[in-house]
Amino acid sequence: MSEVALEVKQQGNVVYARHHSVAQNEKLALLAGLKRPQKTISPKYFYDTRGSELFEQITLEPEYYPTRTERSILNDNAEEIAGYCGVDSVLIEPGSGSSEKVRLILDELRPKAYVPMDIAGEFLHRSALSLSQEFPWLDIHAVCADFSSLNVPPKNIPTGNRVVFYPGSTLGNMTPNEAVQFLTKMRDWIALDSLSEQGGVLIGVDLHKSTERLNAAYNDKSGLTEQFNLNMLSNINNLFDGDFRENNFDHLAYYNEDHRRIEMHLVSKADHVVRLDDTHIEFSAGETIHTENSYKYTLASFAELASGSGLEVIKSWVDDENLFSVHYLVAK
Ligand code: SAH
Ligand code: AVI
Repeated sequence: MSEVALEVKQQGNVVYARHHSVAQNEKLALLAGLKRPQKTISPKYFYDTRGSELFEQITLEPEYYPTRTERSILNDNAEEIAGYCGVDSVLIEPGSGSSEKVRLILDELRPKAYVPMDIAGEFLHRSALSLSQEFPWLDIHAVCADFSSLNVPPKNIPTGNRVVFYPGSTLGNMTPNEAVQFLTKMRDWIALDSLSEQGGVLIGVDLHKSTERLNAAYNDKSGLTEQFNLNMLSNINNLFDGDFRENNFDHLAYYNEDHRRIEMHLVSKADHVVRLDDTHIEFSAGETIHTENSYKYTLASFAELASGSGLEVIKSWVDDENLFSVHYLVAK
């Protein structure tokens, strides 16, 4: 992330600062992933404006239980959650998307400031402006950044009791090792500059469940997850001057029980060659690009992961069916 914002806009109570731009090292990392025996592309490339909109539509699908379940947990426990977060918090949300979920706790929490952060800049800015219309009293500092390369908290945000809000089980899109590193970073963020009470992490984590239910959630009948998966190729074309054709690939998503994760892939329908700027990548029929993992945890396995990051779960909330969990963590 650039130290100095590349672009800053202010409208009413909303400051939008863009720190993210696609750099040369991102292209090298992308090509390295595509040259591996199992080709891979980071799931962060799902999220251009269209990808963010498709994700929002997926969350409304009947098969995709995580969003509505987490919403009900936040809604039912907003008062207690606000008690854990404390007063005058600076609420930072990495991967904030539409900022829909924060709406459920804002009235109870009344934070000093809200810092939504996302890689999809245009969608982030639009979401921040719409949030501000609904909550005119809220001080919003939207930051367009890639949280995988963001080591320090964004500069120029208000000081105060930092609470990281990380809903959606976005942590599940990281391998357990990456998740430990990310949570360790979040522990450092909340420890720094906590002026009043101790800061914390309020996080949503999807739970282990039947393979059938998981497979259905990532293979919705309307085909929105398929479109979301394929859209990554158009985003890559735009960012890196490529000629991927969505028609040349099929969507594949399945639960890998050994790793306790959903895997999403794009399967090449035929032998063909794709150009990315001046590099050519060969695909054989049936070969896949691994585009996403979505790890599922138990309450115990998540608490263990958090502990490895120097964080302690002090409260967990789950729904009646044990589908999804929300936790409040503090530094050990
Ligand atoms: N928090 C929202 C959205 C979850 S979808 C919810 O719970 O519904 C995941 C979000 O993380 C998307 O908005 C996506 O753009 C963002 N995201 C994914 N990878 C990112 C990265 N490396 N840096 C910043 N944002 C990222
Ligand atoms: C954002 N993330 C937690 C979603 C998930 O369920 O892993 C992304 C997603 N992928 C397919 N459907 C939704």
